[in-house]
Amino acid sequence: MKGILLAGGSGTRLYPATSVITKHLLPVAAKPMIFYPLTVLMLAGIRDILIISSPHDLPRFRALFKDGSHLGLNISYAEQREPKGIAEALLIGADHIRGESSVLALGDNIFHGHHFSDTLQGAAREVEGCVLFGYPVHDPERYGVGETDGDGRLVSIEEKPEKPRSNRAITGLYMYDHQVLDIAKNIRPSARGELEITDVNREYLARGQARLINLGRGFAWLDTGTPEALMQAGLYVQTMEERQGVRIACPEEVALRMGFIDLEQCHRLGRQNAGSAYGQYLLSLVPA
Ligand code: G1P
Repeated sequence: MKGILLAGGSGTRLYPATSVITKHLLPVAAKPMIFYPLTVLMLAGIRDILIISSPHDLPRFRALFKDGSHLGLNISYAEQREPKGIAEALLIGADHIRGESSVLALGDNIFHGHHFSDTLQGAAREVEGCVLFGYPVHDPERYGVGETDGDGRLVSIEEKPEKPRSNRAITGLYMYDHQVLDIAKNIRPSARGELEITDVNREYLARGQARLINLGRGFAWLDTGTPEALMQAGLYVQTMEERQGVRIACPEEVALRMGFIDLEQCHRLGRQNAGSAYGQYLLSLVPA
């Protein structure tokens, strides 16, 4: 299974914080935002990851993650010249995912919750069609919205509807089987001029092959689209981390727990940054 991390877009609403840097590299608590969706892919068991960003920002991601081998990953990079929609990421990543199932994660979506890795790995084991993740929000009109029937079966998906049929937002994490490229190739730009991921998902729905997993109210799916939301996300992460003494979305720790790196490598990474609390945390993961 292959991963795609889309970190495109202009981050207009976060100006001036985003004047010279993409929002996906802004800190959420002590980590670049992109660490959060990166670790979601890792928790799903994925090691082959394509990062897609603008020609301007891509060099920064390369500098940050290199080839990913220090995390036991294989990270590659591709450009999205203009923000032409989320579904374009699948076409850009065509060679990367061809013939395999894939997970597409948006670089600004933050997920946190108990047993999320079990949910991800369970879903990843049997991807037939597409698997979407729904989350209840008070403002569904800002998102893709999924409607289910009495048996919990998905019956409609709409992108930013004026009158949402439910409060269930479709989050920016999408699992697809091998059909996704054929589907993505055939969708056309929407009224806002974008290749909508919602249109890909609707095609799966039309084929009777779209499944929605509900992330319940005990779960956190955080927004980072406005200065206020970004600050709130940071405070949430900081509160949880300080209370529990663990770090959320620490790629080195996830790599260790997933068996992508060994204790020695974790220790090495900690030593390289021993002057920071983050480095000290990595060192604390390794028994003396
Ligand atoms: C995009 C998708 C939308 C999804 C959202 C999740 O919205 O189009 O369906 O709910 O991401 O973050 P956009 O970021 O383009 O407004």
